Amino acid sequence: MLLEVKNLTVSYDTAMILNDVSMSVESGKLVSLVGPNGAGKSTFIRTITGLVRWERETLKGTRYGDIKIEGEITFNGERIDKLPAHDIVKRGLIHCPERRRPFTEMSVFENLMAGAYLISDKKQLHHNLDDVYSIFPVLKERSSQISGTLSGGEQQMLAIGRSLMVKPLLLCIDEPSTGLAPQIKQLVFDKIKEIQALGMTILLVEQDVSMTFTMADYNYILSHGKIVSKGSSEDLLKDETIRQSYLGL
Ligand SMILES: Nc1ncnc2c1ncn2[C@@H]1O[C@H](COP(=O)(O)OP(=O)(O)OP(=O)(O)O)[C@@H](O)[C@H]1O
Ligand SMILES: [Mg+2]
Repeated sequence: MLLEVKNLTVSYDTAMILNDVSMSVESGKLVSLVGPNGAGKSTFIRTITGLVRWERETLKGTRYGDIKIEGEITFNGERIDKLPAHDIVKRGLIHCPERRRPFTEMSVFENLMAGAYLISDKKQLHHNLDDVYSIFPVLKERSSQISGTLSGGEQQMLAIGRSLMVKPLLLCIDEPSTGLAPQIKQLVFDKIKEIQALGMTILLVEQDVSMTFTMADYNYILSHGKIVSKGSSEDLLKDETIRQSYLGL
């Protein structure tokens, strides 16, 4: 397993946001973590990438109170649950955050370069840039455009492209479809599938369950901080309760 999470529990003060979450991601697969608003999906990604622990250290002793984190996180054969966020990034666990805001004052090219800050080898950098441009030709066409003037869909593609600049081992994409029109959503999802086909392992976090189920190899359903169901899309779609609760069918 590329990622293995065991019994992860996260509490902000007295509120338990993640409750004994266990899940794993196999290399080369597209695994989804779906669930309604406030289920804890972003908190899950922010915990495995070390951000919640950074927050805990930073906020310790302030009026924002205590954050508790328990559980084991293993990535690529190594325990990472005590590592700082920047060391987790270096190991290739990359987070493409929710609401997709690139640096809006910078050009598309500058944003992509900012994503590649860990790469010092120039040749490698150009190679990675070419790969991102071949997945997203629109980013090449608009490389000198100021990012804030891109459409919502283009900004989402830029956010994903920026995350790809370091050639992640695992790319965690948080709610790429939020706020996009249906055709644009479809386009973004097609791109994610294409990126997987090129060999990338992806953890996709989504509220749009029906769309996610069309493309994920395996799914975890998170509700109120707990994994309430898991399985292949095919199996989950056979489950009447799941169809009613999460797909409105
Ligand atoms: N820093 C924080 N301090 C306190 N509570 C938090 C913090 N971050 C998140 N929460 C709470 O944790 C719960 C889960 O939030 P989270 O953002 O992980 O959900 P989500 O599944 O990503 O939701 P959405 O689909 O809306 O993005 C929410 O009730 C939220 O208010
Ligand atoms: Mg979220």
